[in-house]
Amino acid sequence: MSDPLVLVTDADGIRRITVNRPDKLNALNAATLDALQAAFDAAATDDAVRVVVLTGAGPKAFVAGADIAEMADLRPTEGRDFSLRGQRLMRSIETLPKPVVAMVNGFALGGGLELAMGCHLRIAADTAKVGQPEIGLGLIPGFGGSQRLLRLAGRAATLELCLLGAPVTAERALQLGIVNRVVPATELEAETLKVATQLAASAPLALRATLDVVNIGGECGIEEGLQYETAQFGLMFATDDMREGTRAFMERRKPSFTGR
Ligand code: COA
Repeated sequence: MSDPLVLVTDADGIRRITVNRPDKLNALNAATLDALQAAFDAAATDDAVRVVVLTGAGPKAFVAGADIAEMADLRPTEGRDFSLRGQRLMRSIETLPKPVVAMVNGFALGGGLELAMGCHLRIAADTAKVGQPEIGLGLIPGFGGSQRLLRLAGRAATLELCLLGAPVTAERALQLGIVNRVVPATELEAETLKVATQLAASAPLALRATLDVVNIGGECGIEEGLQYETAQFGLMFATDDMREGTRAFMERRKPSFTGR
């Protein structure tokens, strides 16, 4: 039997999802997109999962893009469907009700950067390279890259990356606001685990509300955004976790959150 396209493991509330086509630098073909979609759908509804870490198998790549060999002969309607398939996955990651951390262990190009940008946090190895090189193929980003890069890094950086197509270093990506942290490649696992462990111990409903208000706030006016924040803030007072968090502070102990 061939290796699974996506590996899934669990430890202490942290679900690790690994794109597993290292011989193709984890390029996203349709079957891998489907396997990732299934993995994220399962993570969304499993209460034991508090946080997801997404990475790529092998030493070289997070994901080196959509599968160019598979795309080469597509017709326009098939290209559109491929784009929709990728966009649906990235959107379900972005709207997952729990945090998703991209551990960017190497090339994150094209669909790979789009995948990382669908995640809520990005921690990159100092050896990683990121970019939107589709222009070199006579293409444009099709899994949401033009829109998410614009929102993350602004118009100047988006046009530079998408028009010129040249990948940038992790350090440059940090300056542009595309990744959150850059660490030596040898420390990537430990740093990501540290962040994921903190998230796994945090109050799940407050994490979810944070993701919701930021997702919605990014797309609406300030008045609606503030109203939504107030509504979510008020809702937190109905949770056991809010009582536990405030009491633990006053009793000078660590809180223990249950997600209720
Ligand atoms: N789609 C399909 N296959 C890909 C791929 C992609 N996006 N990226 C890499 N691969 C495959 C290569 O074809 C090669 O397969 P092979 O060994 O069967 O020939 C294998 O992965 C290793 O890649 P290779 O190019 O030999 O590695 P490299 O170290 O010389 O170069 C990159 C690494 C990332 C610079 C180069 O692979 C690359 O430019 N990839 C495409 C990036 C891209 O344009 N992505 C956007 C797609 S829309």
